Amino acid sequence: MSTRVAVVGLGGIGQMQSDVFASEADSELVAAVDRNEAKRDAVASRLGCRTYASVDDMLANEQVDLVSVCTAGFEQGGAHLEPTMKALAAGAHVLVEKPVSNDIAEARTMVDEAKRQGLVLATNLNHRFVHPARRLKEWIDAGEIGEPLLVAFNLWVANPVDETPYFQLRELHSHSFDILRHFAGEIVELQAFVTKPTSRSSTWSSCSINLRFASGAVGSLHGSYDMTTSHPFERFEIAGSKGRAVLDNVYERLTLMRHDSEDTTVVQNPILGGIDGFYHSLRFRIRQLLDEIRTGAPISASGDDGLRALELIESAIASIQTGEVVACAPQT
Ligand SMILES: NC(=O)c1ccc[n+]([C@@H]2O[C@H](COP(=O)([O-])OP(=O)(O)OC[C@H]3O[C@@H](n4cnc5c(N)ncnc54)[C@H](O)[C@@H]3O)[C@@H](O)[C@H]2O)c1
Repeated sequence: MSTRVAVVGLGGIGQMQSDVFASEADSELVAAVDRNEAKRDAVASRLGCRTYASVDDMLANEQVDLVSVCTAGFEQGGAHLEPTMKALAAGAHVLVEKPVSNDIAEARTMVDEAKRQGLVLATNLNHRFVHPARRLKEWIDAGEIGEPLLVAFNLWVANPVDETPYFQLRELHSHSFDILRHFAGEIVELQAFVTKPTSRSSTWSSCSINLRFASGAVGSLHGSYDMTTSHPFERFEIAGSKGRAVLDNVYERLTLMRHDSEDTTVVQNPILGGIDGFYHSLRFRIRQLLDEIRTGAPISASGDDGLRALELIESAIASIQTGEVVACAPQT
């Protein structure tokens, strides 16, 4: 049976998600919601779904299985709570954009409420769903890297917003911490340093964070809003006792270098039939979520994963403020 979906928030991401839900075989885009009439009209004329100016109106008139919350707000996560809680109260599963919230207490409220209601709360941490990332996970799980020792992640983009001190950490690095945990396991200690160019007055726009993993591996996260996506902008590397792997630019190229061989194995995004743009990755994330909802399988990139990423971000902020190494193992 097709999953009936409503998308709330029709900015750039909500428009793209609407296209995906309308074109996937397992979903039907029944409604789209935004306060902005022009954005509603754009979706209605392109995709033919009903549109509403408010979540309340949409929920009063539609039976939906899944609501995708793309509302952004303060620090790009401040407007996620209200539509998420309303959708859960109406009995719908929720896919919430990253960050789940800019406020960790609000994120916990969403995660707890979904569990209380027995509903799915998933987050759009889309980077891990592309084909080369799946292959890298298979290699790591099959022991190709051996015992993990060194882990590094760089996420370098351009974002001139200069409004709050920790915007870069809170907006950008849900992706980073999700990728680091997905491939290298839990992070138990960190120490963060930040900087900014003289042109900025508020946002700490570049960061370097030292990490220690539960496995014993050590690593680093380098993040920045002061670079450009015209050049390579994302790189994950894991090095272990048997080999080393590098995932370049989310899906562009995956490389495996085994210590016992001079040969290099490369998985390259195909020119024809491969991913033809970053936002194509949303399709793979959404496809997997639809599959997991239909089959009842555990949710990949769940609300808990989104919340855990926020906990690590807040630990990094605590480290910046105190200058200390922060113990950040999950509370049990
Ligand atoms: N996963 C990714 O790779 C990725 C990439 C970029 C952005 N994002 C995230 O996607 C989200 C959306 O980003 P964006 O750039 O599309 O934001 P945006 O600000 O362009 O759009 C948000 C839209 O939501 C609408 N809106 C807000 N609150 C509403 C409400 N209560 N009811 C109805 N409409 C409401 C606004 O009118 C606006 O049109 C953000 O959380 C952002 O962090 C994710």
